[in-house]
Amino acid sequence: MKKAYKGNILFTKDINNLIAIKEGYLIVEGSKILDVVNEKPKDISNENIIDFKDNLIIPGFVDIHLHAPQINNIGLGVDMQLLDWLNKYTFPEETKYKNIDYAKKSYKKLINKLWENGTTSSVIFGSIYNNSNILLAELIEESGLKSYIGKVNMDRNSPDFYIEDTEYSLIDTENFINKLSEFKNVKPIITPRFVPSCSEELMTGLGELAEKYDLKIQSHLSENQGEVMWVKELHPDCKDYIDVYEKYKLLRKDKTVMAHCVLSNDREINKLKEYNVTVAHAPVSNGNLASGIAPIHKFLENNLNVGICSDISGGNELNLGKVLTLGETFGKLKWIEDNRLYDYLGTINYFYMATKGSGKYFENVGSFEKDYDADFLVIDDSNILDFNERTIEERLKRFLYNGNSNNIIKRYVLGKELRKPFSE
Ligand code: GUN
Ligand code: FE
Repeated sequence: MKKAYKGNILFTKDINNLIAIKEGYLIVEGSKILDVVNEKPKDISNENIIDFKDNLIIPGFVDIHLHAPQINNIGLGVDMQLLDWLNKYTFPEETKYKNIDYAKKSYKKLINKLWENGTTSSVIFGSIYNNSNILLAELIEESGLKSYIGKVNMDRNSPDFYIEDTEYSLIDTENFINKLSEFKNVKPIITPRFVPSCSEELMTGLGELAEKYDLKIQSHLSENQGEVMWVKELHPDCKDYIDVYEKYKLLRKDKTVMAHCVLSNDREINKLKEYNVTVAHAPVSNGNLASGIAPIHKFLENNLNVGICSDISGGNELNLGKVLTLGETFGKLKWIEDNRLYDYLGTINYFYMATKGSGKYFENVGSFEKDYDADFLVIDDSNILDFNERTIEERLKRFLYNGNSNNIIKRYVLGKELRKPFSE
């Protein structure tokens, strides 16, 4: 059945152009977008036209990299850099997810927050514990949100209390993959934590599983200087960090997402391009852990796809509107440090990255083009309207910079309105 949602419609098809249709109609058939039009559609009866009046309608946000078992650690340890932060704060917190009750409480809280912030699709790192990973998948499926979830693998250079036996790590991963074949909106993804925490045997096995089940892969790449030097020490035969992933067949063409890439050199960028890797840009996390500012302009010059992520809890902000505007701010600081040698990126470019850019990693997600998933948010920005006439593009920018999750009054996924998933 066809429905039309009336409002001020804003979305992107490419990184440079915002499409803004004042008082338009978003036409949805079942779970898919059919069209966006200016005129009231004649073939849809009045009861199937939902009038959101002067509100804004935008695609749901897509968080392309976050760590579910770090939700209770937001704001902790951000006075450290990556490797100390992992050891002192992150690994001890993730071990708590061995306890299924702790996992249940925490994951319900996380999913409520994703919903609240208008994140309709996400790509998630779980923990090493399958029971809580499967619980996370069940809870997300129940919520109606969409995601890829990975069972994290780590069998070396990790603390005694949070490390796996190689063989069991691979068996658990295969069990997790098989278990998730029963799910509709949640899919498994191969998730080596990062090179330092995965032995060669483990990486080989994960590459084989990815091939066997034709799966996507997520990991971290060139985030921090100490980490990059450590990878060099661990793999002196490899040309650089990404060469290790390539060696163990963990770069699958069109199917890989790598978080950060702050310190990626030109050779690494060429490899990202060769495998059409999506870069998960985590500006808030990169600021918090003093990792640096990723060269997003270079990735775009090389036609790489870039998505935006919260990277909770390296990042402290689940609201991707906030993350993308901070991405813009940091990008401009880098631009000025780089002597203004290229054009800097603006709000609309980052809005694209947080919707269609991240969404490209899914299929037909993050835009309002025909056959895209009908995932959208209704934004009531009346409390941030000012005393001037504003275009709807200006209103979008003011929502992103000046609004918050309270302005999101409705969330639709696959054409259905989602209510708050869990009671507090
Ligand atoms: N590298 C390896 N593990 C992690 C993690 O949990 N967060 C971030 N930001 N980087 C990592
Ligand atoms: Fe991360």
